[in-house]
Amino acid sequence: MSIPDDVSTVDLTDPRTFEENDLRAYWRQLRTTRPLHWHPPTGDAPGFWVISRYADVMALYKDNKRLTSEKGNVLVTLLAGGDSAAGRMLAVTDGAPHRNLRNVLLKAFSPQALKPITDRVRENTTRLVVEAVRRGECDFATDVAEHIPMNTISDLLGVPTADREFLLNLNKSALSSNEEGQSATDAWLARNEILLYFNELVAERRAKPTEDVISLLANSTVNGEPLSEEVIVLNCYSLILGGDETSRLSMIDAVRTFSEHPDQWQLLRDREVTLESATEEVLRWATPAMHFGRRAVTDLELHDQVIAAGDIVTLWNSSANRDEEVFADPYVFDLNRSPNKHITFGYGPHFCLGAYLGRVEVNAMLDALRTYSTGFEITGEPQRIHSNFLTGLCGLPVRFQPDEAALAAHDGGDGARA
Ligand code: HEM
Repeated sequence: MSIPDDVSTVDLTDPRTFEENDLRAYWRQLRTTRPLHWHPPTGDAPGFWVISRYADVMALYKDNKRLTSEKGNVLVTLLAGGDSAAGRMLAVTDGAPHRNLRNVLLKAFSPQALKPITDRVRENTTRLVVEAVRRGECDFATDVAEHIPMNTISDLLGVPTADREFLLNLNKSALSSNEEGQSATDAWLARNEILLYFNELVAERRAKPTEDVISLLANSTVNGEPLSEEVIVLNCYSLILGGDETSRLSMIDAVRTFSEHPDQWQLLRDREVTLESATEEVLRWATPAMHFGRRAVTDLELHDQVIAAGDIVTLWNSSANRDEEVFADPYVFDLNRSPNKHITFGYGPHFCLGAYLGRVEVNAMLDALRTYSTGFEITGEPQRIHSNFLTGLCGLPVRFQPDEAALAAHDGGDGARA
């Protein structure tokens, strides 16, 4: 469907807008002629500002003095009037409490601390890709990608293997993005079950600490005070919220994109591009988190207009990552793109805590695909998620062409394969 000339008729709160339209012309028009666009109110929800240029998105991400995340940081919570975890969960906390909590968590997120986790990401990804390629056909979303981020976060948090499937299913309901028909009550119940689950795990780790993030949080202090159980539980959950679906959607998008760009797949296969460079372009191209948002705490001026204190401001990564002022030929998928300072992980004080981990996951996936498969084709209709925040696929039927030599070498390396 094409986009009407009047941009104010495009409803960014409605997930169907993203499913049914090609929004390229819309974003181009906003970037060129309306860099500060007032999105009209929809139903009972208030209107909000739409920021589409890369430079503005960066500047506003950075500005946590005049803009706050404590009234919500995505459209759903901003329009509903706030986030119940504000001031306690990292992403919706500002000022000194945010800095203190982030400093505690950063200890667990340094590349060095993450080494055992990233080693397991590579093992797990290789195993899943080898199994899928050997089977020939699979749903790449549910058979492969779905099992990587949740296992990674579970490794990080120290969630026992037996509980992981249960958590994954709860999380799918909690985000309510896979199914259009799912009720808000189901999502709320699932979120509460996740919080209850972590409550128990925190109590266990307080009593008997191990090497995981829950133990770290349970035994850290801020200004001499231990973190409350509630803060720990909410922040465990925030790692799942932040790290599961975003990474999963990036990997799934990579497979779909390569099937549409065989020349770029060949570059990857032939090792004519580094995995690092390919990872960055895959992340720019996918931009799984389309927007984040803030509320203004004071009046501020932008493009000769006033954003008033109390207004909702949305920052569109999906547009900023295609800004022709910053990216040459932004609508070209180019694994050798350099520079590639995409904004997929945000910017400034709330810059993604899991960016390194997200990159490792995508990097491991590209490495496994190029090693064990000579190519692949999409064999059925991809299934889109239903969301005004995240974009991507939750179903992608794929047929792989195996690299027999690489599979044989893998078997040899594995030792005991039948
Ligand atoms: C923050 C994207 C992976 C945990 C953010 C933000 C973005 C983002 C754009 C900024 C939010 C804001 O400014 O309001 C992504 C993408 C990922 C990814 C695209 C994967 C491709 C992860 C992973 C984890 C994680 C793997 C953890 C295991 C977080 C947390 C925050 C955050 C805790 C809040 C940081 C803060 O407020 O200080 N992410 N993320 N993310 N992300 Fe990620």
